[in-house]
Amino acid sequence: MTLSANINVMKKAARKAGRSLVKDFREVENLQVSMKGAGDFVSRADIAAEEIIKAELMEARPSYGWVGEEGGEEAGRDPTRRWIVDPLDGTTNFLHGLPHWAVSIALEHKGQIVAGVVYDAAKDEMFFAEKGEGAWMNESRIRVSSRSRMIESIFATGVPFGGRSDLPATLQDLARLMPACAGVRRWGSAALDLAYVAAGRYEGFWERRLNAWDMAAGLIILREAGGLVDALRPGEDILTSGEVIGANEAIFEQFSKVIRNA
Ligand code: IPD
Ligand code: CA
Ligand code: CA
Ligand code: CA
Repeated sequence: MTLSANINVMKKAARKAGRSLVKDFREVENLQVSMKGAGDFVSRADIAAEEIIKAELMEARPSYGWVGEEGGEEAGRDPTRRWIVDPLDGTTNFLHGLPHWAVSIALEHKGQIVAGVVYDAAKDEMFFAEKGEGAWMNESRIRVSSRSRMIESIFATGVPFGGRSDLPATLQDLARLMPACAGVRRWGSAALDLAYVAAGRYEGFWERRLNAWDMAAGLIILREAGGLVDALRPGEDILTSGEVIGANEAIFEQFSKVIRNA
């Protein structure tokens, strides 16, 4: 692989934050937790991980801009590049002692995602990709699955929590999709959902209300693994609409017809 130095900077920051998160995860019952909204938690672990990532990335690339879930936005001297960071995707799992959560770091250049890292520290699985260089998990190249029959395929989504107004639409999606496929999973980390489609672990993923930091790294990993991604409403921008659908190439059209009710 001929990856740029940026990927190494991103992987190093993800590993460092991952070590801090694994330590906090072992003593999760002692963590200080607060609620940002109904069913929307943030803990000291999220904030510590974000501080670690920001310090690492800003030291290595001081001119880049920054947007992080817990730390807000900062313009950089270089207006064309910025980091998009979710220090802990899957906070609810983390706080319940479920080992399914990840660090997500993406690099945006001139409005396009050019590199992404999704690190599952509990399982030591580092998913990463750079534009034009393919997608990887640890030392191995990853690719989407080739399953093309809906009835043999499994899909993942996120079900809105805390009484969110987009719940009915997701329940309608599920009512159409579940009879047509081999199963639907709701794991609780959108970043890992996208990485898992990239790794061929399941065939597709959609979700109706996400933030840029949930998706940015996973999107490039999935694209570079040969997957197709789009906004739920064709023509919209994925990151700003917050609605995403992605799948292997063989199933994308059938899957998107069901989800888009087309
Ligand atoms: C959440 C996860 C989850 C998704 C939620 C996100 P967080 O991120 O990605 O899978 O369904 O919408 O908010 O809050 O754990 O970083
Ligand atoms: Ca959150
Ligand atoms: Ca998230
Ligand atoms: Ca988060």
